Parts: sequence; structure tokens; C-alpha cells
Amino acid sequence: MLGNFIYSNPTKLYFGEDSLKFLNEELPKYGKNVLFVYGGGSIKKTGLYDEIIKILKGNNKEIFEDAGVMPNPTVEKLYEGSKRAKDNNVDFILAVGGGSVCDYAKAVSVSAYCDEDPWNKYFLRMEDVDNKIVPVGCVLTMVGTGSEMNGGSVITNPATKHKIGHVFGENVFPKFSILNPIYTYTIPQYQMVAGFFDIMSHILEQYFSGVDDNTSDYIMEGLLKSLIHSSKIAVKNPKDYEARSNIMWTATWALNTLVAKGKSTDWMVHMIGQAIGGYTDATHGMTLSAVSLPYYRLIMPYGLQKFKRYAINVWDVNPEGKTDEQIAKEGLDRMEEYMKKTGLVMNIKDLGVTEDMLDRIAKNTFILKGGYKVLSYEEILEVLKASM
Ligand code: NZQ
Ligand code: ZN
Repeated sequence: MLGNFIYSNPTKLYFGEDSLKFLNEELPKYGKNVLFVYGGGSIKKTGLYDEIIKILKGNNKEIFEDAGVMPNPTVEKLYEGSKRAKDNNVDFILAVGGGSVCDYAKAVSVSAYCDEDPWNKYFLRMEDVDNKIVPVGCVLTMVGTGSEMNGGSVITNPATKHKIGHVFGENVFPKFSILNPIYTYTIPQYQMVAGFFDIMSHILEQYFSGVDDNTSDYIMEGLLKSLIHSSKIAVKNPKDYEARSNIMWTATWALNTLVAKGKSTDWMVHMIGQAIGGYTDATHGMTLSAVSLPYYRLIMPYGLQKFKRYAINVWDVNPEGKTDEQIAKEGLDRMEEYMKKTGLVMNIKDLGVTEDMLDRIAKNTFILKGGYKVLSYEEILEVLKASM
């Protein structure tokens, strides 16, 4: 295990078909004024909106609605929500939706009482919070980001085409999250499979780093096997409770800080994916699927032993009579086959990227140093070209 670390996670999870009733146990812990945050209306179609309103009213809450949080929430929306939270003196933020709604709720929670522009402070200068934080709780309806049990908050600035994530500390993690796998049945197939790949990518970003014998890697291999197994079932039958519940649980553990412990972690697929997202507003998981294989094929020689282990332990490649390179390559080929069968986007052209954007996307990509190879601008461009 690399370095010294502290592990704790303050988010309480309520999981399963009956989990919504626990909202009645959580709400009394907070004040009267509740900001009820949700997205573009899926919760109205499913009836969850009515259930939430009933529970809020049953707990004598004053409800302030903040609707219309878009996928890849924008900084303009953040300004609007922060003002609403402050003007109404809200005591608690209830986020009901996917990663975008949860991320946005966290951003509002740290921005409502921020004296300066939160975009500059938190997303450009990456500063810590030093003002009042409004507590957040989540009811999750879309699976993938892990936002329900972490401090991540990703905001997009369409004017500058920057999509930037701030990983806040435990004081910003949701106080609780309610995870009912049945709420995920109505997610459109495209979003559902994008979420599956988001989970896979979160695990791989952490797995492909380090050369030590690390417990986190064994946990991640287990999570990956469960995800691959269950996603194959869910693609055919989205209402398979066992598959959807396993995937929901895997998504949470993929990015709730546990498996990052003792690891340097890579995150370059996400950095490239986010830069693409800033230009195209594309679905997050699909930006990752479109660039992953060109990226991994580029860095494979620098982390060959790990790619070999990945091929054998995750994709069941038989190593007999093969070189390390052949084994590692076969693992990535099997991953590609799985991705195509799952229905993932395999190139960035399909996300609206055009040749003239490549240079600016490469320049907007943050270069991180935790993986097997520190990429140059030219190499990012090479990955983007290979992803076209
Ligand atoms: O807005 P509504 O109408 O609710 O529709 C949403 C949205 O259009 C729909 N949806 C969600 N649940 C549904 C449903 N439709 C029918 N039935 C349901 N049960 O799905 C669409 C996508 O929702 P969104 O919340 O945008 O998806 P996701 O959960 O993938 O979140 C993506 C955002 O999270 C960020 C991404 O960058 C992106 O901005 N991420 C957050 C992370 C974190 N907090 O740690 C890490 C991730 O790597 C990621 O960057
Ligand atoms: Zn992600």
C-alpha cells in the first residue's frame, strides 16, 4: 500500500426496494427549509416527484423547488441555484436524480454562502471551502458516477468550454443517499450503458497505477467481474433486479474513495473525456468509452505487467504459450468486444467531435501524473486522432 492514509466515509446509505421510507428518518435531522433539486422531469414521469413531495410535506417542510438541472450542469445554473438557496435560507438540499443532480446539489451547498464567484474559487483555483456548507441528501435515479457517496462535483462552463470537477472533502459528501435499484429501470438504454462504462472507467482509472501488491487491486478485479457479469444481463433485461442492484452497489464502491487507498491513480481517461464534454456536452460515460481503448493501447507498454494481470484476472485470457504483450493485448481486445456488444460509443466523431476541435480539446486536457505514463500534448492528440 502506497503512503499513509486515513479512511472514513461519512455518507450513510439506504439500499433496496424499501429504502425511500428512510427519508422520514433523515429529514427531521435538518431545519424546515428544503431545496428540492431535480433534473429535466424524469421523476415527474415515474411518479417519484409526487412521493417525495408527500414525504416532505409529511415532515412539515417548506419546499423550494430547483428544477431543470441539465446533464453536465452549467455554471449559470449553479449561480441561479446558489442564489435561490441563499435567498430562501435553506437548511437542507435534497437532490433527486442522477450524478448531474447530485453534483449540482453539492456545488450549490458550497456556493450559496460563498462571497466570491464559486466557479473561480472552486473550479479554476481549486480552493477548499471556507464558508457555511448546506447539508445535502440524495435519492439516486441513475447509476454510474458514484456521486451519491463522494465529494465529486463536475460543472461545465459553456462559454469557455471548460468542464471541471472539484473533489471536495468529507464535509461536502452527501449526509445520506437512498439507493433503490427499481428507480433505475426507466433510464433510457443509451444512458444506462453509458453509466455502466462510467463505473468500469472509474475502476480502471484506479487499477492502472502502481506496481505493488495492493489489496485495492484485488477488490477492483472483483468489482469489475461483477459489473461485466451483471451488465451483460441488464443490457438484455433492464428490469432484472439482481443485475441492476449489483450494478448500483458496484457503482458506489467504484468511486467512494475506498479502492483509491494506497494507490496513485491515473484519471487521464476522465481528463480527456471531460475536455471532450466541454466541447460537445456529450454523455459523460460515452466520452470515456470513445477514448479508453486508444489510451490504454498507448500506455500498455509502460504498465505491461498490470495489463497482463488485467487480461488474465478480469477477462479470463489463457496465458499459456503467449508473450506478456500478447496476453495484455488480448485482454484489451476482449474489452473492446464487450464494449461493442454493450452498445457503447466507440469513437468521438459520434459524439459530435470534428477535426478542427482536436487541438483545442488536447490543450484543454489536464495532464495528471499518477498513471503509467505522463502524457504529452502530442500524445493526447494521438489518442484523440485514434478515437475519431
Ligand atoms: O434530467 P432528467 O429528466 O432526470 O433525466 C436524466 C438525464 O437526462 C436521465 N435520468 C436519470 N435518471 C433517470 C433518467 N431517466 C429516466 N429514468 C431515470 N430513473 O438521465 C440523463 C442523465 O442523467 P445525469 O445525471 O446527467 O447522468 P449521470 O448520473 O451519468 O451524471 C453525469 C454527470 O456526473 C459527472 C459527469 O461529468 C456529468 O456531469 N460525474 C460526476 C462524478 C462524481 N461526482 O464523482 C464522477 C464522474 O466521473 C462524472 O464526471
Ligand atoms: Zn466518470
